[in-house]
Amino acid sequence: MHAIQIDRHGGPDVLAVREVAEPTLAAGEVLIRTTASSLNPVDWKTRAWQVGPPLPATLGWDISGRVIASNDPARQVGDEVIAMSAQIATGRGTWADLVALPGHLVTAAPVSVPLSDAAALPLAGVTALQALRTAELTAAEHILVIGAAGAVGGLAVQLAHWTGAHVDGLVSRPEHEHAALELGVQHVWHRSDDLPNGRYPVILDTAGIDASAALAPGGRYVSIADQPLPDVPGACKSYVQENAVDLAQLAELVDAHEIRLRIADRYPLTDIRTAHERFEAGGLLGKILITF
Ligand SMILES: NC(=O)c1ccc[n+]([C@@H]2O[C@H](COP(=O)([O-])OP(=O)(O)OC[C@H]3O[C@@H](n4cnc5c(N)ncnc54)[C@H](OP(=O)(O)O)[C@@H]3O)[C@@H](O)[C@H]2O)c1
Repeated sequence: MHAIQIDRHGGPDVLAVREVAEPTLAAGEVLIRTTASSLNPVDWKTRAWQVGPPLPATLGWDISGRVIASNDPARQVGDEVIAMSAQIATGRGTWADLVALPGHLVTAAPVSVPLSDAAALPLAGVTALQALRTAELTAAEHILVIGAAGAVGGLAVQLAHWTGAHVDGLVSRPEHEHAALELGVQHVWHRSDDLPNGRYPVILDTAGIDASAALAPGGRYVSIADQPLPDVPGACKSYVQENAVDLAQLAELVDAHEIRLRIADRYPLTDIRTAHERFEAGGLLGKILITF
């Protein structure tokens, strides 16, 4: 089978499509024939930085596909599923024709979108859901989502809106304002200097900037970014944990048309280097899918 691997860290040129051995199936695992994956920032960081499992390693966290063998009574051959692997911790990358994953990480794919598009949901969606939970966002509260047009930010906007919160967004450029408004943002900013002091009881930062001056006294400031937290009371980081229950809730929200998956572009696995270059150029309004 084919897998996208690295055997050293570096630029997109270190990515290689290789013939590798098919995975064997352990107790409780399911074997998935991959339909699609997506690119997340962690993928290029694992490629470029000295992080991740021992090399050579197969990259990729997201997967959508069909079960072709199962040692998990909850999953049958033919099931259309999605999952998020913890690639850095386990070394089990999803950028491969066949992927074996513990059944407890796998959930049914949403039925209202093509199976390939469902690969846009797992990592970004679970991150957004868990970050809003960390923020303890409640209905009618006012939240500012920083990076509102991004992958996690765009899903966080939709989830916060679904919760009943009043959602404002900060985007990186004026041409992203319309996209944020379409997702449910009520007021959109594109310059952090314009943010009103002390307005927001909740701020979710997905871009790693210091917008703490906009936090209301006693507010909660949650960041998923790599950058250090601003030095304000109530600031904390949220780190995504793979969780199929959260993923199932997100799939239900997709099918209920409460959250919309945005696809910016699709690349076959053989074009993985071009996909990384496009991803790192930024300015995307949706996910980049890798198709198998
Ligand atoms: N802690 C965790 O568990 C966890 C989980 C998932 C992701 N992450 C991290 O969270 C970050 C976001 O992930 P993602 O998948 O959402 O990435 P993404 O799709 O690239 O989204 C980031 C968004 O922030 C925007 N942005 C950049 N600078 C900005 C600024 N100064 N003001 C407003 N918006 C700005 C970007 O716009 P442009 O594209 O125009 O620059 C982009 O729309 C990444 O650093 C990722 O590694 C952490």
